[in-house]
Amino acid sequence: MTVLSPRPDLWTLDPDYVHLNHGSFGAVPRRTQELLALLRAEAEANPMRWFRSVPERLTASRLELAAFLQTDPAGFALVPNASAGVTAALSTIPIPAGSKLVLTNHAYGAVRYAAERFAKANRAEIVVVDVPLEADDDAVVAAVEAVLDERTAALIVDQISSATAMVFPIRRLAALCRSLGIASIVDGAHAPALLDAPAEDGADFWTGNFHKWPAAPRATAGLVVAEQWRTATLPLIVSWSEYDERLPERFDQQGTADYASWIAAPESLRVLADLEWPRRRSELSTLVDEGARILAKSLGTSVAEVAHPAATMRLVELPFPGERSPDAGEAFKEKVSRELKAEITLTGFDTRVFIRLSAHAYNSLHDYQRLAEWLPPML
Ligand SMILES: Cc1ncc(COP(=O)(O)O)c(C=O)c1O
Repeated sequence: MTVLSPRPDLWTLDPDYVHLNHGSFGAVPRRTQELLALLRAEAEANPMRWFRSVPERLTASRLELAAFLQTDPAGFALVPNASAGVTAALSTIPIPAGSKLVLTNHAYGAVRYAAERFAKANRAEIVVVDVPLEADDDAVVAAVEAVLDERTAALIVDQISSATAMVFPIRRLAALCRSLGIASIVDGAHAPALLDAPAEDGADFWTGNFHKWPAAPRATAGLVVAEQWRTATLPLIVSWSEYDERLPERFDQQGTADYASWIAAPESLRVLADLEWPRRRSELSTLVDEGARILAKSLGTSVAEVAHPAATMRLVELPFPGERSPDAGEAFKEKVSRELKAEITLTGFDTRVFIRLSAHAYNSLHDYQRLAEWLPPML
């Protein structure tokens, strides 16, 4: 079988740079950008007419996005990002004084801050479960199970972690929570397009970004709510839909906002379909594996042994010993961008520092080879 060709031509990324960090902010294909521009032009030609048309267009978009996730559209709402999804979930569940909110040490920093805010406001406690980088599914479930008890209000857990690009056994964790009467909130920020039917693992709340791997316009994310919570779940901004009994429609109105991104988002799903996703995704796994091996070899380090890595991300260890400050990390990324014309991200876990490599349809092996050739002399 022939290997699919890289398609940088479908994006507008600056060809002078290698773009190896799709995972942080995504990148929007040309076709979707063009549609977005048309929609915004239409809005500016007649704002009154545009806003009258928004509800119907949002409904159509939501139905396509829900179908992509293979989830029940009645439990699917649009939110601007995974941070908003997690915040909405935390503002819905009861968090009694003295209860516990459980996270793992892989949790995304801003999600942990959200849990901290709600814990403080409710005089609850944050418990962080240590899950080793190399833990397999059984070890993850055992580590989480060991801390869940009758005081636990919720488990907040990544489906695919950011710093460690690891896939968590959500179906098992959600079932465990359900059996103990504990609410489960799944941070699936990276899951759409990397996992099939990611919202169907039985969590009480699931949120995920369309602006990452599905390459939708930014500020497009979903919140999937289990049936028993749908009436209680409210959007973070109080607007005209406050008393709408339907969950999705309640989230459609967030005051005067730019809804063009949400309306244009399905175009990116059509781009993925044209790219032969998920066959493409499986080839990108092979590509990022190979790219990570090449980079690790050039650095004299190794690729992190994550038991269940995300399809299109890998961690390559940096040779720096000990802890590096966030400021040093930012300065390093800036230097790599300026001097090597390569966009990368760094992540940290315990005292280890990694380059987290991504692969999307615009990448080719040459991108990783170029980084591998140029980075070692700079260190
Ligand atoms: C695991 C995880 N959770 C949450 C987020 C936050 O996503 P957003 O910035 O879209 O709210 C990210 C972003 O990278 C993430 O990787």
